[in-house]
Amino acid sequence: MLMAEIKEIKVSRSEYGISIHSHIRGLGLDEKGNPKPVADGLVGQLEARKAAGIVVEMIRQGKMTGKGILFVGPPGTGKTALAVAIARELGEDTPFVALSGGEIYSTEVKKTEILMRAVRKAMGVKIKEVRKVYEGVVRSIKIAYARHPFNPYVRVPREARITLATKHDELTLNVGEEVTAQLVQLRVRRGDHIWIDAETGVVHKVGRVRGVEKAKYYDVEPWRLEEEMPSGPVKREKEIVRVFTLNDLDVYAASQRLSLTGLFGIELEKEIDEEVRKSVNNQVRKWVEEGKAEIVPGVLFIDDAHLLDLEAFAFLTRVLESEFSPILILATNRGITKIRGTDIDSPHGIPLDLLDRLLLIPVRPYTRDEIRKIIEIRADEEGVELSDEALERLADIGAERSLRYAVQLLRPAAIVASRNGHSKVLVEDVNEVVRLFADTKTSVSLIKEYEDLFMK
Ligand SMILES: Nc1ncnc2c1ncn2[C@@H]1O[C@H](COP(=O)(O)OP(=O)(O)OP(=O)(O)O)[C@@H](O)[C@H]1O
Ligand SMILES: [Mg+2]
Repeated sequence: MLMAEIKEIKVSRSEYGISIHSHIRGLGLDEKGNPKPVADGLVGQLEARKAAGIVVEMIRQGKMTGKGILFVGPPGTGKTALAVAIARELGEDTPFVALSGGEIYSTEVKKTEILMRAVRKAMGVKIKEVRKVYEGVVRSIKIAYARHPFNPYVRVPREARITLATKHDELTLNVGEEVTAQLVQLRVRRGDHIWIDAETGVVHKVGRVRGVEKAKYYDVEPWRLEEEMPSGPVKREKEIVRVFTLNDLDVYAASQRLSLTGLFGIELEKEIDEEVRKSVNNQVRKWVEEGKAEIVPGVLFIDDAHLLDLEAFAFLTRVLESEFSPILILATNRGITKIRGTDIDSPHGIPLDLLDRLLLIPVRPYTRDEIRKIIEIRADEEGVELSDEALERLADIGAERSLRYAVQLLRPAAIVASRNGHSKVLVEDVNEVVRLFADTKTSVSLIKEYEDLFMK
């Protein structure tokens, strides 16, 4: 792979904004790393939040590589929520990949391949590139159109003449069809701050600069408004930083190979060749040595880790010891249980050699007050208005049955309320959805009760 090729590589971002955790914005810590009782959408669970804050600090300092953490606690105590909060704290540039232990079993792809891909998605490669560009503010732009070859009523942009200016310089460029098409698509107009990659012709719009002659400004502008013209020459070298994942590079390298060997019917979706990954590793190592790239270990979060089996655990243990290792975050609600696929009992269903490499963070059941607060935040997030009594009733349900169940009742309750002609959710609406939707305990006892009937 050549440095020049990286412009063609697609950058992927796996968004872990699972909707039931959308209210979570971070860990809600103060400057000293102490949790505020209610902040960033999080309630209570103070010790686990403080511990998670320390882990985030260790990740930022690069002291967590090759290590992992395990959230342990009963269902509905916020284990997944805390993992999401860690991702939010780490920010956009740290890759965060999430999967559930059960997702590795597929008839199409080997378990270890699914895990390997997740591991490589969780490893960032920050590449610094110096590129030759034309950068400035658009002083004038003139686009020439031609008739569409097959449809005389349609006009297509053919070429353009564009003048870019900085505080110190001005340059007029004649550009061809490809660049012109981008100028049209990005709706580049007078006053826009843009740069054009001199080699690839890719156009980037950065913002708008105030006070450019003959430019038109609107009250609402979707672009960042800059007060000053950029300085320096229009034709310049620009350092550009982009973050890829190892998986992005694998996919690209494999596709390059594919074009040579495509005739033999290799299916990219199924498996990436070990050789491809090796060559990507070598390449990345070389870039790092040359100072062109930097490795950014991200987070691989595996929820319901007890669903992994012995082979998967062995794989993860090896990964933690390897050169390109992300930070592993596991969560489970199991105590002592059998390691899947074996007869061996182990704490949390995880083999001891892996457990040894993990920091355990316990999470505890919530008080009724905390549950009420969480339901209030969720209701607000989902735009569901609750009467005081309805909130109290849901808090009771959360405390007696489960937090998850109470949270899941919010939407249906809002629908029932509006059908009943109520402007907000009342206790009777909550009671109605409780009758309509059972929690697990109730549904199990129902089946017991009717077992005889079911069998006949
Ligand atoms: N401390 C908290 N503050 C705010 N919201 C929370 C908190 N803890 C949990 N929640 C919310 O409550 C719901 C249930 O929590 P979550 O799914 O994180 O539990 P869990 O411990 O992962 O459960 P399980 O063991 O069943 O996977 C989610 O909507 C979650 O976002
Ligand atoms: Mg969970």
